[in-house]
Amino acid sequence: MAASKASYLSRIIKGFAGAPRFFRNYSLSRPPESQLFTGWPLVGLSNWFSSDSSPARRLFPDISAAGVGFRRLSTSEEPAMGEKAFERIYIPAAAPVADVPEVDEGCDVDLPKPKIPQYRESTETEKEAWSLLKRAVVNYCGTPVGTVAANDPTEAALNYDQVFIRDFVPAAIAFLLKGDSQIVRNFILHTLQLQSWEKTVDCYSPGQGLMPASFKVRTVPLDGSNEAFEEVLDPDFGESAIGRVAPVDSGLWWIILLRAYGKITGDYALQERVDVQLGIRLILNLCLTDGFDMFPSLLVTDGSCMIDRRMGIHGHPLEIQALFYSALRCAREMISINDGSKNLVHAINNRLSALSFHIREYYWVDMKKINEIYRYKTEEYSYDAINKFNIYPDQIPSWLVDWIPRGGYFIGNLQPAHMDFRLFSLGNLWAIVSSLATPKQSDNILNLFEDKWDDLVGNMPLKICYPALEYEEWRIITGSDPKNTPWSYHNGGSWPTLLWQFTLACIKTGRPGLAEKAVILTEKRISNDKWPEYYDTRAGRFIGKQARLYQTWTIAGYLTSKMLLDNPEMANILTCDEDPDLLEFCICGRRKSSRTKCSRLAAKSQILV
Ligand code: GLC
Repeated sequence: MAASKASYLSRIIKGFAGAPRFFRNYSLSRPPESQLFTGWPLVGLSNWFSSDSSPARRLFPDISAAGVGFRRLSTSEEPAMGEKAFERIYIPAAAPVADVPEVDEGCDVDLPKPKIPQYRESTETEKEAWSLLKRAVVNYCGTPVGTVAANDPTEAALNYDQVFIRDFVPAAIAFLLKGDSQIVRNFILHTLQLQSWEKTVDCYSPGQGLMPASFKVRTVPLDGSNEAFEEVLDPDFGESAIGRVAPVDSGLWWIILLRAYGKITGDYALQERVDVQLGIRLILNLCLTDGFDMFPSLLVTDGSCMIDRRMGIHGHPLEIQALFYSALRCAREMISINDGSKNLVHAINNRLSALSFHIREYYWVDMKKINEIYRYKTEEYSYDAINKFNIYPDQIPSWLVDWIPRGGYFIGNLQPAHMDFRLFSLGNLWAIVSSLATPKQSDNILNLFEDKWDDLVGNMPLKICYPALEYEEWRIITGSDPKNTPWSYHNGGSWPTLLWQFTLACIKTGRPGLAEKAVILTEKRISNDKWPEYYDTRAGRFIGKQARLYQTWTIAGYLTSKMLLDNPEMANILTCDEDPDLLEFCICGRRKSSRTKCSRLAAKSQILV
């Protein structure tokens, strides 16, 4: 069906257009399930979402065609053939229409009063940061819904005038820690709206449940009128992003933020809403769907996260795995338990358990492990192979042999015959925050940051990855990307926004002093340098070649770090503790004596604790 994207835009009529109240946003983008499916308690998700490509068409014709279109929507508890049990969603039967929360209700509701930590008087730099952060706020129909990525008057905006999901997270945490939760609530609800947007790249529609990388508030003429205007939210799922890459991290961040919001505000009613529960499940469905994978880690394309350009991180990049683990942990806490969700919870537990084993065991390198790899035999064919992924020892890069200090880290990626030995900061830090790393591994990662301070922090926290790709590697792996030249941008540049993740990891491991040291370093120049997006050179000395100034997540990351250090107990809105059940739990059912042994039983002594 050829319909213009504009016709699907979620509409809220502005006051000056003469309409006094909101339309239900979801009337054009998201089916209000409990109204629609009253009397259909269990519904196969894939069935109703795949029926038509248009959100509007999905809604209305489906209602009239209920008898026909829902033929496969069983009220029975049994999954249909080929349907994964967790794909089913439990819709509370016969919820009266009035009980269904309106999506845009978030704009002006009375929220529980959050516990606001006490703060000392702000420094000048903090005051400046707050005023810049407030200036970055984006309003939609008169209410705040997010922050622009950057407010740099000297550079072309490109898409930096949009609200990026990942960029907003540190800003959201700063607002929450300050006691301003309304903007976060609005953000959560409006991005939820965008989740089921019509999205196509050259006539192909990516999966339901995808969250956009970013969105923009646009003012457009009301249909058929020259005088009246409306504001619309226009999301980008990667259809116009550089490289056309889907933002896998957006949905994961959304779940993580939703939990943080609930923990700090006490407004758990938000996560319990039918539409929010559905949003969580759509994201999980997308992540947990079977593919051709042999690994429990998520398989993604290059550039599907903070590093959103070609950087050789396709496959199973650590950053995605750490966020995936974290989002699964957070979702497990938030999913309302009922008949329809128990299979999903089971699937989450299985995945968490397998994923943590996989990353802890196979991504971890330290002196001992590298020596083992150095002596690996190759071409082993058996269940018991030591060198399972057939890694050729010559792959160990020469920089690593001399560099690896006390401590260790998780490598960037693991594929058949391929270990990407680069150290990616976000993935390692979030592995600590989420307890994907064992307590010992967490400690060792921070030992490494401490020992290799000059390389990983230098003049400005924090290297996005170490080391940079140079020469032929740069040419082949980045495709000669002039923005990602060695020690610039994603290729070994230094990103001040990572400070908040570093701070969280330091607090979690009881080493706030390390984070304080990084904050002091940041404060030396960040305001003078006008809050750049990133820094260049091996030691992070120069403001990045093409760095935006007044980059919002640089500002927010700094404020969040300061507030967390002042109130370290607040870190727990984002962290997860080690879950011992996940270690014990193994679904493979194999014993040590079986022909194919349980890998976990065999490996446990070495790495898991
Ligand atoms: C760049 C970054 C990306 C960020 C965006 C907006 O594309 O690579 O991570 O979200 O800018 O700041």
